[in-house]
Amino acid sequence: MVSDLLQEGITAVEEKLRSVVNSDVTVLEDASLHIITSGGKRLRPRLVMLAYLAAGGQNLEEVIPMAAAVEMVHTATLVHDDINDHSLTRRGKVTIHARWGRTFALLTGDFLFTKVYQMMAPYGAPYNIIMADACSQLVEGETLQAAAAKAGKMDRETYKKIISLKTASLFEASSRMGAMLAGADEEMVEALREYAYNLGLTFQIVDDILDIIGDPEKLGKPVGTDLVQGRGVLATENGEVVLEQLEEPTVTAVAESDPLQEMLARLRESGAVDVARMQAIEVAERARTALYRLPPSPARDEMESLIDLVLNRDR
Ligand code: IPE
Ligand code: IPE
Ligand code: MG
Ligand code: MG
Repeated sequence: MVSDLLQEGITAVEEKLRSVVNSDVTVLEDASLHIITSGGKRLRPRLVMLAYLAAGGQNLEEVIPMAAAVEMVHTATLVHDDINDHSLTRRGKVTIHARWGRTFALLTGDFLFTKVYQMMAPYGAPYNIIMADACSQLVEGETLQAAAAKAGKMDRETYKKIISLKTASLFEASSRMGAMLAGADEEMVEALREYAYNLGLTFQIVDDILDIIGDPEKLGKPVGTDLVQGRGVLATENGEVVLEQLEEPTVTAVAESDPLQEMLARLRESGAVDVARMQAIEVAERARTALYRLPPSPARDEMESLIDLVLNRDR
């Protein structure tokens, strides 16, 4: 059963993540374990393994360090992202910077990034290059987002570019590397790459929707962060209109209540979420089409159900 195999793989990845952050500098190890052991959907390592299996890979053990490295990149970026976003909760726990302070959070993020080199080293080129490119893109995406938000220029095109870079790039690299390690031919690698790229876009659009309509308890992280920072689903045309309308009344009429809750409520009613939802469905269908270029297999079925999981998730 693919699901049993995957579960075993995820357990091995978790073990790898825990052991690799061992350090005599206890604050680094404690802070690293704090986030590593706090759950998380482990979607990216799952993708590495599924692509490997869908491409005919036989020995899941050979992708475990790679799958762990991908999850480590993701984890490191979360630590830094939460500093930038001033988020106080992550995966239902207090964030590292909220508990240990900004300096240790920055250093923990750096520490986690160094572990990526270590875990990727045995694979050599081109895997380490694909991974490095994905990391660069991720940082470029986060930076473009900060720059666009600062300039108040989050149009639809910029939004698409940002989510491609900050989120889809790592999904894409995960699937591509998994497929290549299994010895897939170019066509198959390309289909799996395209699937994961579009799954990543879907994932981030849904994340941005959940920032507006989600339940912080279920999500394990705050909502409204994107709104406060001037980004996300607001990039849709409707969203922009709503924000313009909001500026005046928010300050005056809403002064008594919680301005953020008020803005979120208005945004929910604006139709911006529906527009974003339609975009998510559209890119999800692109992921599905790419997937159908692969021969049927239990791993492919699992990858197809991931699309629906990502679309319909509430955490
Ligand atoms: C959160 O990713 C960051 C985004 C790219 C939106 P996940 O929702 O995959 O985070 P975890 O790993 O499950 O906590
Ligand atoms: C960040 O996006 C994605 C990264 C690549 C780190 P978000 O800022 O939307 O992620 P969350 O909502 O904090 O998880
Ligand atoms: Mg964030
Ligand atoms: Mg978010």
